[in-house]
Amino acid sequence: MTDTGNRGTPVPVLAVDGPGGAGKGTVAKEVADRLGWHLLDSGSLYRITAYAALQQDINLESSQDVAAIARELDVQFVQSDSGVRVILSGSDVSDAIRTEEAGRSASIVARDSAVRDALIDRQRAFAEPPGLVADGRDMGSVVFPDAGLKIFLTASVAERARRRYKQLKDKGMDVSLPALSRDMEERDRRDSERAVAPLRATDDARVLDSTNLDIQGVVDQVMLWVAEVFPNA
Ligand code: DC
Repeated sequence: MTDTGNRGTPVPVLAVDGPGGAGKGTVAKEVADRLGWHLLDSGSLYRITAYAALQQDINLESSQDVAAIARELDVQFVQSDSGVRVILSGSDVSDAIRTEEAGRSASIVARDSAVRDALIDRQRAFAEPPGLVADGRDMGSVVFPDAGLKIFLTASVAERARRRYKQLKDKGMDVSLPALSRDMEERDRRDSERAVAPLRATDDARVLDSTNLDIQGVVDQVMLWVAEVFPNA
């Protein structure tokens, strides 16, 4: 059993890290649903922070101002028929924070250590019984270093761009595949090369390459590992 948790409570944690478009979000949600565990979509916190900063005309590079926004976010995750809705200061921003533009802005504020520090406790508070599936870039390396199971989920850039393209097209958005590929490479570079909490697989992470797997194949592998590491889950 894992010992990671706030307030010293032993709470099993499954950390799922990896680059954008590798399927982390879908896999983490499905696994959390199957286990009946809580789900932390940490990327949404960076997206919400960037969105809130832009709403208030704050420069995304202005470290202390953006960190203050991150610390004071009035955000709620509300379960609804259409999934989890993100409510920021009373407004539903679920769709607004999912655009490519919001993702780009998130990756800019995510480079800043003051912003990252401001979001740490908020993320750790998600570790509540019976368990947590935490999805992000630094779940296993920084936020939950004692997580009992760490998975680094990856896939080729071409495949990740193709998946993101399909996802956005299905939502009726007008997108171009070459532009998405370029964006994805640029964001990978920014996430991997930043000085604080760069995207990387920790030595104790299990790497899962999903380039040639569908979501079900990935979920099946993750559930096998979960059964091995958390036999009581
Ligand atoms: O997973 P996502 O696309 O929603 O993440 C948006 C951005 O937030 C991504 O470019 C990197 C950043 N991020 C991060 O730095 N650390 C996390 N734990 C999650 C996301």
